[in-house]
Amino acid sequence: MTFLKHQAVIASDHAGFPLKQEVAAWLQGQDCPLLDLGTDSTNSVDYPDFGQAAAQAILNGNAVWGVVICGTGIGISISANRFKWIRCALCGDVETAMLARRHNDANLLALAGRVLSPDLARKIVQAFAETAFEGGRHQERVLKIDAIMFEHE
Ligand code: RB5
Repeated sequence: MTFLKHQAVIASDHAGFPLKQEVAAWLQGQDCPLLDLGTDSTNSVDYPDFGQAAAQAILNGNAVWGVVICGTGIGISISANRFKWIRCALCGDVETAMLARRHNDANLLALAGRVLSPDLARKIVQAFAETAFEGGRHQERVLKIDAIMFEHE
């Protein structure tokens, strides 16, 4: 399955807000249904709130996949990855984005708003959204990720 025509969620902190606007406009231009959870300006907010909101949108069935953005992509990806079944991949290039889907079945893409150009970010989002999970041996490895969380509850 590829994501581009499936319901997406997008969220960012203030440092990711300008890039969020660019990515959201591009996704809407691709006719991707999009739930935008904010933030809505460059006023300072806390990235864990937005990583959590995006993760919960997927876990609640309000989105199938999504994009989260903070200054580096690090804080918001760590926050989203606290949730079971969320596999948030911080990607700074197209190849990594494709492999995050093919090998890791990532369901959230994290981007660095302070680092990426809008053009490269769009290419990364497109690669992520148009690449399918390969399954097979990768499925077993992905299941082991969630098994770690169950073992250490
Ligand atoms: C906010 O200043 C910044 O710390 C945040 O956007 C992000 O880069 C954290 O990982």
